[in-house]
Amino acid sequence: MRIAVLGTGYVGLVSAACFAHAGQHVTCVDIDEAKISLLRRGKVPIYEQGLQDLIAEGRRHRRLHFVSHAAAAVSNADIVFIAVGTPTRASDGHADLSQVYTAVESVAPSLKAGTIVVTKSTVPVGTADLIEHLIRNICPELEFEVASNPEFLRAGRAVDDFLRPDRVVIGVESGFAAARLLTLYRSVGIENERILLTDRRSSELIKYAANGFLATKIGFINEVADLCEKVDARIGDVARGMGLDQRIGIRYLQPGPGFGGSCFPKDARALVKMGEDHEAPMRIMETVLASNDARKRSMARKIAAICGGTVRGKTIALLGLTFKADTDDMREAVSIPLAQALIDAGGILMAYDPVANGRAKALLPQCVRYCNSVAEAAEDADAVVVVTEWQQFAEIDFRTLRQRMRSPVIIDLRNFLNEKQVQRDGFKYFSIGGPRRQAFETMQPQTKSEKPLRTHDSKWVAADSLEEQIAAAE
Ligand code: UGA
Repeated sequence: MRIAVLGTGYVGLVSAACFAHAGQHVTCVDIDEAKISLLRRGKVPIYEQGLQDLIAEGRRHRRLHFVSHAAAAVSNADIVFIAVGTPTRASDGHADLSQVYTAVESVAPSLKAGTIVVTKSTVPVGTADLIEHLIRNICPELEFEVASNPEFLRAGRAVDDFLRPDRVVIGVESGFAAARLLTLYRSVGIENERILLTDRRSSELIKYAANGFLATKIGFINEVADLCEKVDARIGDVARGMGLDQRIGIRYLQPGPGFGGSCFPKDARALVKMGEDHEAPMRIMETVLASNDARKRSMARKIAAICGGTVRGKTIALLGLTFKADTDDMREAVSIPLAQALIDAGGILMAYDPVANGRAKALLPQCVRYCNSVAEAAEDADAVVVVTEWQQFAEIDFRTLRQRMRSPVIIDLRNFLNEKQVQRDGFKYFSIGGPRRQAFETMQPQTKSEKPLRTHDSKWVAADSLEEQIAAAE
């Protein structure tokens, strides 16, 4: 099959490289000529595991091409995928579809008869209908189809998610389009049981509902984590105890500083707007968004409380700046409002991210100092804060790190480090949703006048395995 992909963001590039890997002939189009010339020189503008190799393979086999002019790319394409951005529209919070319509208008006159135009971009319900009208207006005689095929790729895991998906959703209005897209996905090695065929509108909504629901799961567990801190419970065990119920499931129950990225916040906002437009209010989604927004800044108050009530004049080392690990994406990253709030409160910020220091500079307050290593960031710090769960932070030699710091305090906003190990290395360790005992032990010098808090039986630490629990009890 001949495929054209409009847009070379992470969805467009990953889809194109994976279709080429499956043996299809793929041409990627982007109006950004600098990006296209970079890709033609074998460079990949985003950091995505496995993508560079797949792109190199596609180019070696001459199955993957990059061009900046859409007309030639689509004129012999059997399927045209639209994979351009649909960011939040600043004026009203709706999804901004201008890039989608511009892309469609630019290719419509060049489409050949029988082409299927497929939206991979996340678009509100009814967009496929509008695209169909648009093309029909430009080319009244053309025979074509419009289909919806949302993506469920996680940044950092996108290649794997594409090649081994939980499901592929295909929304079509004709058997012809269904058959073509099924053939395409079978070439990628996806079995029938993993493919959901539906109508276009349901397909478009599935994407928003899925992202909205995952965001809700995270929002919920984050609030339960806050409750754990107040009632002396452990969020790790609470989440595990919930998630072992297969009706709930353990994934996306990891508490943290709030969800970010280019998808959950934007899609949650668009779902709320869609609900308003169709008089079907999305109250739960609205609440999740409000709770998440408030949470990001509130992390600065948590840090201040741990630092004895204020960060004024204190040096805080932020480890990890991207919205999650294994990506260089800074969009809606917690580090942005968090750094601003800490600076507003008078803190001195040192920051280190394994891949995104450069990107962060444009987004975080100017006075943040960027470091080339964890050790440099922690020099004379009053607290180290793990903002993003990069694997290299789990491998830090904390005993050595402690020597560099003014006070040995770790605030782990991802509940990612090994609590016991870090404590053995002489640190005061704080997590999200930890028991009050954790806070009590660390806050002792500042809270002398307060009544002692109730502590857990020290034998009953959060156990990772039954054996460990039994050993602790004996
Ligand atoms: C998300 C979805 O997971 C993908 O299925 C979807 O295709 C994609 O959006 C999209 O619409 O394009 P992504 O934004 O890459 O993928 O990131 P996730 O790994 O889902 O994480 C999103 C945010 O939630 C991150 O800030 C992450 O740290 C946070 N998160 C995730 C938690 O706080 N707890 C969790 O248990 C899981």
